[in-house]
Amino acid sequence: MSFASTTFEKPEVAVAEEERQRLGRTETRWVRVLRILTLLILVLTAGFVVMAVYSFGRKSQQMSFSSEFEAHAIRVIESFHTGIGRQLSACDTLSASITSYAIESGSVFPNVTVPHWGVMSNNFQIQAQATFVQFYPLVTGNETDDWNRTLWQKYAALNHNWLMPSFTKEHLMRTAQDLQFGYEATPLTSEGVEGTEDSYENDLGHLAHAGSFSPYIWSSRENGPSLPLSGP
Ligand SMILES: *[C@@H]1O[C@H](CO)[C@@H](O)[C@H](O)[C@H]1NC(C)=O
Ligand SMILES: *[C@@H]1O[C@H](CO)[C@@H](O)[C@H](O)[C@H]1NC(C)=O
Ligand SMILES: *[C@@H]1O[C@H](CO)[C@@H](O)[C@H](O)[C@H]1NC(C)=O
Repeated sequence: MSFASTTFEKPEVAVAEEERQRLGRTETRWVRVLRILTLLILVLTAGFVVMAVYSFGRKSQQMSFSSEFEAHAIRVIESFHTGIGRQLSACDTLSASITSYAIESGSVFPNVTVPHWGVMSNNFQIQAQATFVQFYPLVTGNETDDWNRTLWQKYAALNHNWLMPSFTKEHLMRTAQDLQFGYEATPLTSEGVEGTEDSYENDLGHLAHAGSFSPYIWSSRENGPSLPLSGP
């Protein structure tokens, strides 16, 4: 009985073993397929997430860049407008002061000599952030009728004495200001006058001894505003 059981047991075990192995093989194949599928899904999900984050980030960065750019542009334009407005109102103030003085003193344009021009122009220079300030009266005339110019030149020659003190005052104020702001003191040279090698002192000396206006201090030799050279 025991023999029989062993002889019959053997094929049964073998069949079971075979069945188990077959099942195992099928299972292994399914597991592999499942594993590949899971991996594929993971890779796809990761790719999708990366793409979504990238496109969202790019869009939001573009938006924030353009809004920031716009804000800065608006600020630049606003400050430009503010600056121009301030300069124009400084011009307005200076012109009002000149006109007010002319009316009060009974002077008729162009025969107007503003007192303390050095101080006034210096204040204007600060407000308008101007490199320099010059005052040119408009004197009309033509080839046949040049009488207005003759009168103006006569007046200018008679009233040039304010120039030297005004230049000196303006220079002293500018130097004091530069020192206050920690800059080097402005040298006494005729800076900005192209084509001239005269020093500021030479120009002033020229002015003092010419007995009248010197065109050199205002411009290069031939061009520029016409100012009287001969005395009254
Ligand atoms: C001279 O000045 C007067 C007063 O400003 C003006 O009426 C006249 O037209 C001027 N003459 C010329 C030629 O411009
Ligand atoms: C010069 O100006 C006067 C006064 O304004 C005018 O009568 C005259 O015609 C002008 N002459 C020329 C050449 O423009
Ligand atoms: C300007 O000044 C000159 C010289 O003093 C004078 O002859 C002329 O009449 C003045 N002109 C005016 C418009 O006051």
